[in-house]
Amino acid sequence: MVRLAVTGDLHIRMGDPGAVAPGLAAASRGVDALLIAGDITEHGRVAEAELASLLLRVIDVPIVAVMGNHDLRSLRRLAFRQTLATAGVTVLDGASVVLTASDGLRIGFAGIAGCGGGFWPAEAPDAIHTKAWNAIAVRQRREAAKLDEALTRLEADVRIVLMHFAPTASTLGDEPGAKYWMLGNGELGRVIDNHRVDLVLHGHAHLGNRIGATANGTLVRNVAFPVNSSVVQLLVDRSGIVESESLIASAVGTGG
Ligand SMILES: [Fe+2]
Ligand SMILES: [Fe+2]
Repeated sequence: MVRLAVTGDLHIRMGDPGAVAPGLAAASRGVDALLIAGDITEHGRVAEAELASLLLRVIDVPIVAVMGNHDLRSLRRLAFRQTLATAGVTVLDGASVVLTASDGLRIGFAGIAGCGGGFWPAEAPDAIHTKAWNAIAVRQRREAAKLDEALTRLEADVRIVLMHFAPTASTLGDEPGAKYWMLGNGELGRVIDNHRVDLVLHGHAHLGNRIGATANGTLVRNVAFPVNSSVVQLLVDRSGIVESESLIASAVGTGG
């Protein structure tokens, strides 16, 4: 049995570590790993990453994260990632890591930021095509290909996808339909459904709902802190995700 603490959308900024970050150390006590589904910082500034590192480096379990759109605002992405690495944070971008429990159970995480693009034709209407839209479509294909490769290479007993953007509209809750194209895309869901995946964790949709599924029924959890008002704890065994509960309650943030 492996115990995971999971959250997303910390939005740490200078002078304001946000609602969840200060409690992460307590929330991570007794777990085997902490997962962060992006938007660790508000502006992607290295100084914000340094503040995040101060809060995260006291956590003595593996920390696996992906970048969110707010982190990707960084003009110094290498320095940003290196700063997080000093706190022991592994940032996945089309790659994977495997955590092996004491009983030999291998929990694999494939991670990617993802991107927008929308959920047509299955879950939402198509958007108006423009030049800007073509750029989004290119990025969508690139992110989907990276996720596909990471999942193809991942060898583990339990396979979890960690991402920032949503792979389905089923976890978008009260987000307005006009924003769907900014919140994720269905191509990521189709990639997931082409592989054996036990669970997808994403953030980004602050007004979303907690639990949904891809078209083929893969379990999807929106772990954005504003959605859950807590760090989520998952218990995992060979059969997959067996239990979940909230770890800490705190104030609800806003943003995107
Ligand atoms: Fe976001
Ligand atoms: Fe966010």
